[in-house]
Amino acid sequence: MRQRVGWLLWTVLLMLVLFCFLVDAGNYNAPRRALGSNNISVRQHEDGVKILTDTPNRVVLDNGLVQVTFSNPGGDVVGIKYNGIDNLLEINNEETNRGYWDIVWSNPGKKFAYDKLYGTEFKVITARKDQAEVSFIKTYNVSSPNGLYVPLNVDKRYIMQRGGSGFYAYSIFERIEGWPGAEMDHIRLVFKLQQAKFRYMALSDTRQRFMPTQDDRRNGQRLAYVEAVLLPNATSNPIFAGEVDDKYQYSMEDKDNKVHGWVCTDDQSLVGFWMITPSSEFRIGGPLKQDLASHVGPTTMSVFSSTHYAGGQLGMRFRQGEAWKKVFGPVFLYLNSADPNNGSTTTLWNNAKEQMRKQVKSWPYNFNSSQDFPSSDQRGLVSGRLQVIDASNVLVPASSAYVGLAAPGEIGSWQKESKGYQFWTQADENGQFVIKHVRPGNYSLYAWVTGFIGDYKHEGEITIKPGSRIQLDNLRYEPPRSGPTLWEIGIPDRSAAEFNIPDPYPTLMNKFDNNNHSDDSDKFRQYGLWARYEELYPDHDLIYTVDSNNYRDDWFYAHVTRNIGNETYVGTTWQVKFQLHNVTHPGNYTLRLALAAATLSELQVRFNDRSVARPLFSTGKIGEDNAIARHGIHGLYWLFHVDVPSTLLREGNNTMYLTQSRDGFTFRGVMYDYIRLEGPSSQ
Ligand SMILES: *[C@@H]1O[C@H](CO)[C@@H](O)[C@H](O)[C@H]1NC(C)=O
Ligand SMILES: *[C@@H]1O[C@H](CO)[C@@H](O)[C@H](O)[C@H]1NC(C)=O
Ligand SMILES: *[C@@H]1O[C@H](CO)[C@@H](O)[C@H](O)[C@H]1NC(C)=O
Ligand SMILES: *[C@@H]1O[C@H](CO)[C@@H](O)[C@H](O)[C@H]1NC(C)=O
Ligand SMILES: *[C@@H]1O[C@H](CO)[C@@H](O)[C@H](O)[C@H]1NC(C)=O
Ligand SMILES: *[C@@H]1O[C@H](CO)[C@@H](O)[C@H](O)[C@H]1NC(C)=O
Ligand SMILES: *[C@@H]1O[C@H](CO)[C@@H](O)[C@H](O)[C@H]1NC(C)=O
Ligand SMILES: *[C@@H]1O[C@H](CO)[C@@H](O)[C@H](O)[C@H]1NC(C)=O
Ligand SMILES: *[C@@H]1O[C@H](CO)[C@@H](O)[C@H](O)[C@H]1NC(C)=O
Ligand SMILES: *[C@@H]1O[C@H](CO)[C@@H](O)[C@H](O)[C@H]1NC(C)=O
Ligand SMILES: *[C@@H]1O[C@H](CO)[C@@H](O)[C@H](O)[C@H]1NC(C)=O
Repeated sequence: MRQRVGWLLWTVLLMLVLFCFLVDAGNYNAPRRALGSNNISVRQHEDGVKILTDTPNRVVLDNGLVQVTFSNPGGDVVGIKYNGIDNLLEINNEETNRGYWDIVWSNPGKKFAYDKLYGTEFKVITARKDQAEVSFIKTYNVSSPNGLYVPLNVDKRYIMQRGGSGFYAYSIFERIEGWPGAEMDHIRLVFKLQQAKFRYMALSDTRQRFMPTQDDRRNGQRLAYVEAVLLPNATSNPIFAGEVDDKYQYSMEDKDNKVHGWVCTDDQSLVGFWMITPSSEFRIGGPLKQDLASHVGPTTMSVFSSTHYAGGQLGMRFRQGEAWKKVFGPVFLYLNSADPNNGSTTTLWNNAKEQMRKQVKSWPYNFNSSQDFPSSDQRGLVSGRLQVIDASNVLVPASSAYVGLAAPGEIGSWQKESKGYQFWTQADENGQFVIKHVRPGNYSLYAWVTGFIGDYKHEGEITIKPGSRIQLDNLRYEPPRSGPTLWEIGIPDRSAAEFNIPDPYPTLMNKFDNNNHSDDSDKFRQYGLWARYEELYPDHDLIYTVDSNNYRDDWFYAHVTRNIGNETYVGTTWQVKFQLHNVTHPGNYTLRLALAAATLSELQVRFNDRSVARPLFSTGKIGEDNAIARHGIHGLYWLFHVDVPSTLLREGNNTMYLTQSRDGFTFRGVMYDYIRLEGPSSQ
């Protein structure tokens, strides 16, 4: 029975993965020819931005610097002409597969469907010399059979300004009261650039380089995780031969995802294409949510909503009848160029970062757009100071705490919240924070502090009105603690990065994240690290002795399954050995167990007798974040408190058994964030 359930899960997971793969692969065609690029001298139109509709089924925005062509009324971006290049987008792709919005959705309990949100109506919103805005509208047909079309009205908007080297994109999604229920899991804006031209990808100062191509991937060898491909023979450039490529290796945390993109470095042009996201307010799940950004294709996207690194809990689920409206964006698609004889990819990356800072500074955009996007004077502000009680019961500043407003909810609920807007900031070293540009609405104020377990939530709800300035002084976070620390493993920071992340297999490297050997902060992004567990612990599972081991070297980054042959994966039991000089009887000890990730796992805790059938504590089956398979170092955060009666402990040597009890497949497991055993309260 159990085995059958295991297989079922495995199959479901595989189907999901395959589905994602199919969705992302789209109907990509190999480029057959490269566009010749002639050196057209481009000047800004003296008469500002033009909206051209004279070609059938086309709308063109043109400001003399950039010309963007849309399908009409579909509202896809089919062409971007810039700096003498006729089309930056992949001309060998279907027009519907170049620049588009999409969504993965399902009727409750039904199969997931994929929709590219084609518009059926075109409208000009603004037609001034300094600014043009166009709209492509898709309207839900309430009379259509339930489950056939996504119950959503979508208004895709694009704005171009005079002198602006690029264009803005945003979308207004709306559900009207009375419509059928639905789950909507992935909402994205995707651009597929010309493979023949765009070969250099940049995500950050350290994460950038020339990349393999989609053709290399196609000729590659698929690995155990379906989106990962080994490139034994990369034809685009031999330097990639033998590397692994997997788009999840280029994921970013939303808080860091403000600019990324590609550079064209052919002989004639040095041109950059950048996705600039000046605010995370419309993203889901808070600042640590991870999503795809740019990856081999060459593809650049803005992911507005996804279940990646989180699972179905981050899916937007709408009840039958539930109304909803949300504005995704605006994001800015920025184009830059430099003289190829006097410039480099660095020139363009630095310029893109500068442009990103400009866009962040001008957020919220005050140019005229939809009334669903409030301008700065229609927004509010919350400031304050957060302090935290430390291990010695002293009130200290919550230095660098993450403080945010999200939909009213329970403690920590922000990481699973997906329908509303979230506004996050980081406090200074004194715990002072200012959250700016908050949309009117009702919120809870949440926070967490690195170095402390758990989550803070301010008691009352916070109502923001246009112009609100709310001051919250003397906020105080009292993290869970009932007694002194007897021992601890790790750092409470919602990540497993401080543990032992093994060296990658030399035959399974992706050198993208490995160009600075003195910085191993991206080491976890390599393929196959999970399999190193069996090499490190061939005969028995991990045993950690508190007095003599250290977690950086001796605590494997993920509690994974073991392959006992014939592709049979079984759960494993780790041991923590510790000494107690004395045990207080009667006494209540407390185990604090913080997890950084979990995938279809069950973690059980036993003390001193691993054979007892009934564990002292079990998480039950938890987690769908798939962080191990997707090269994350965390998924969602879990915190468990386990009462440990003194009768289970003894003076001298003790062993805590941590069992991940679910068998089945290689990517099942948990990552720990932090573990602490507390003695009984001294009162
Ligand atoms: C285009 O411009 C580049 C330098 O910007 C120059 O090297 C090249 O010769 C020009 N090509 C043509 C066809 O004019
Ligand atoms: C809406 O759906 C109904 C039922 O399928 C159909 O008869 C009608 O023509 C549709 N209306 C529009 C505007 O497409
Ligand atoms: C690599 O690709 C080239 C060109 O397609 C081919 O000639 C060669 O045999 C391939 N080598 C391997 C090891 O696949
Ligand atoms: C090269 O670029 C730099 C700045 O990027 C500029 O100051 C310099 O004038 C340029 N040189 C030529 C020959 O265009
Ligand atoms: C903004 O647009 C609205 C209509 O869309 C118009 O009435 C208003 O005058 C515009 N404001 C500015 C400053 O252009
Ligand atoms: C916010 O809360 C207040 C008081 O509880 C309530 O009257 C109001 O309707 C709420 N506003 C929204 C937008 O939910
Ligand atoms: C490499 O990483 C180290 C440590 O993070 C950093 O100090 C150094 O500046 C980096 N070097 C480069 C070239 O980025
Ligand atoms: C491996 O698994 C297959 C299918 O479950 C089974 O038929 C075979 O006997 C197994 N082989 C060994 C060596 O256990
Ligand atoms: C019990 O042991 C702890 C250290 O492990 C020590 O601080 C404490 O004083 C001891 N208590 C007694 C009653 O011996
Ligand atoms: C320990 O916890 C139990 C149950 O919560 C409680 O009944 C008991 O009084 C506690 N014992 C001590 C010594 O605090
Ligand atoms: C307690 O554990 C230590 C190693 O952690 C070992 O050296 C010692 O022999 C053990 N003592 C007993 C009584 O088992």
